[in-house]
Amino acid sequence: MKSQAQINAHWSESAKNYDDIIQDELSSFRVEGWTEFIKSHVDFKPGMKCLDTGCGPGFFSIILSKAGYKVTAIDGAEKMVETARENCKNNGVDVQVLEMDAHYLDFEDDTFDLVVSRNVTHAIRDHKRVYAEWRRVLKPGGVLLIFDANWHLSWSESEMREDSKRRYKECIEKYGSDFNGNTSYDEEKFEEIHADVEKHPLAGIRRPDFDFGIMKAVGFDEIVIDRDITHNLWDDKEKLLYGNTPMFMIKGMKGCDHVIEVCMAGCCKRNGAEDLIKTLKERLKIERDDLTTGDGKIKVVESGCLWLCKTPPVISVNGRLYTNVKMSDLDNILETVK
Ligand SMILES: C[S@@+](CC[C@H](N)C(=O)[O-])C[C@H]1O[C@@H](n2cnc3c(N)ncnc32)[C@H](O)[C@@H]1O
Ligand code: FES
Repeated sequence: MKSQAQINAHWSESAKNYDDIIQDELSSFRVEGWTEFIKSHVDFKPGMKCLDTGCGPGFFSIILSKAGYKVTAIDGAEKMVETARENCKNNGVDVQVLEMDAHYLDFEDDTFDLVVSRNVTHAIRDHKRVYAEWRRVLKPGGVLLIFDANWHLSWSESEMREDSKRRYKECIEKYGSDFNGNTSYDEEKFEEIHADVEKHPLAGIRRPDFDFGIMKAVGFDEIVIDRDITHNLWDDKEKLLYGNTPMFMIKGMKGCDHVIEVCMAGCCKRNGAEDLIKTLKERLKIERDDLTTGDGKIKVVESGCLWLCKTPPVISVNGRLYTNVKMSDLDNILETVK
């Protein structure tokens, strides 16, 4: 596997070509397409704090700043950072762009409302570490949006590789070039680029299924997958060239750290559950209608029957059940959610 320094050097070398692609993107239908798409997945409020991770030349940083987010951007490659700073300045947006490795984020816990990353996760070394870091820096209730594709699959699967070659050839014939500046079909070069597949950390892995498991393991809630989001986001040339590996989306939410469920069904309700809820709200200083503490870390849920009806009232704290709960038990119960 390549070292992070080698990965950063690779992306620094690609910064100029990548910037050309982003400049085209910034003057295309994709600005509106991506802005609307992202807003449709986040309960947007102006001034929300967003982290653009692996920002490259800064496409998301620019469009999301213009859409009203307060954006911080990071990238591991020095030249990408320089390019993003320049592009943000030229587009009149105030974004803090920092050189930083996504595996080791230099931000406090619970900082951002939204973390976005496009075409980055195929290039990272330790997905578990990075997804855990993204969750850590999200505020409770914050959203992670990952956009990527199975870019690596045509390296390891021969049928797909043949299909990719066909698409590459057809793209050059139809449009005169691909997105890397190639103006003629060069099968030898294609094979050369795809030769070191064994070194790819994702060789043989299918996404986004792979990511789903990791997102769950590091604690994301409400994980949603869309396997093909290209409809309004890619043009015909992209669909031709990359259509066998469409861009997917993985969305995850950082839920509360602790959930206290109080059974409000028949027996428990008749045996003091309402008083328990009232006292929990007072003790946890809960004022929000969604029964969540001000920092979003603890949520009280009025639940249905927890199937221990013979020993009411019943409370579940992060899945651990307490029966015959008395007011005097709440001290011990609240100790567990500190
Ligand atoms: C294909 S570019 C995508 C850029 C941008 N997100 C976009 O969609 O236009 C991938 C970017 O991820 C960055 N990257 C890869 N691994 C990273 C890491 N561990 N930490 C920070 N950035 C990383 C690279 O330096 C590069 O700029
Ligand atoms: S009524 Fe509360 S556990 Fe069944």
